[in-house]
Order: sequence, then structure tokens, then C-alpha cells
Amino acid sequence: MPEQKKIVIIHGPNLNMLGKREPGVYGTTTLNEINGMLERQASEQGLQVETFQSNHEGALVDKIQEAAGVCSGMIINPAAYTHTSVAIKDALLLLDIPVIEVHISNVYKREPFRHVSLMSDVVTGKIVGLGPHGYQLALDALVKMIYK
Ligand code: DQA
Repeated sequence: MPEQKKIVIIHGPNLNMLGKREPGVYGTTTLNEINGMLERQASEQGLQVETFQSNHEGALVDKIQEAAGVCSGMIINPAAYTHTSVAIKDALLLLDIPVIEVHISNVYKREPFRHVSLMSDVVTGKIVGLGPHGYQLALDALVKMIYK
């Protein structure tokens, strides 16, 4: 049997607080619920999935580096680091797999500093403002790219 392809889903700072964190902006779905949904969706597609959340920039960089040569695709919501982290951008540049950037809220309807993403010119594509459903669409897109 061929080895199962693996996808990694990386969540940045404060996303562990989903459900409690600014529900008017991010909704009431928890991170566990989002991860569970994605795990089910991935297994239906015969994919292995790893989910990872950290509040620490270096830990996120380590996880991105680990994916090189191991994973077939990545979904990343770098959260606040989207707008500031050259280190995360540089780590993403190491990868030659499809990477989808996801934001739960529509960052373009929010403060101007959120309109800037240091990641957007290095990722394959990006989904913003669709709530947790954005992750499901990102996974769907990755499946199509991986099995094309
Ligand atoms: C976010 C948007 C970021 O601006 C913010 O810092 C987050 C979450 C989103 O998913 O909408 O933490 O990435």
C-alpha cells in the first residue's frame, strides 16, 4: 500500500482561545472543534493530518522547518504574526509544497495593520473572512492539488 500523504495545519498565537476570544469577530467554534473537523475531512480523503498551535514565533518556525520533505501540503493561520514575522515568511520559503494561508475574520474590514500580510507573496493561495469553513475549503483545495 502506498504511504499516506501528510498535511500539517499550523495555528498561530491566541488561536488556542477560539470560542472565548472576541466571539463577535471569530465566532464560537473552538480550535479543538476546527481540528476535529479537519481530521475527519482529511481521513475521508485518505490523508494523514497533524495539527499544531503555538503562541511562540520560534516554535512555529520549527514546525514549518519540520514539514520540509515530510509533508505534502500545509494550511497556516499565522494569526498576529501574519503582519510582522519575517522569520515565519523565511521558513515558508524553504518549502516546495502547496501552502494555504487562512484567516477566520475578514482582515480587510479591520484595522489597516491587518491588511498587510508578509506571507501572501510566498503562499500558494489564501482564504479570508469565511470563519472556520475557510479551513475546510483550504483542505479541499490542497487535496485537489496533491492528487492532481
Ligand atoms: C487572524 C487575523 C489576525 O489579524 C489576528 O491577529 C488573529 C487571527 C484571523 O484568523 O482572522 O489572531 O489571523
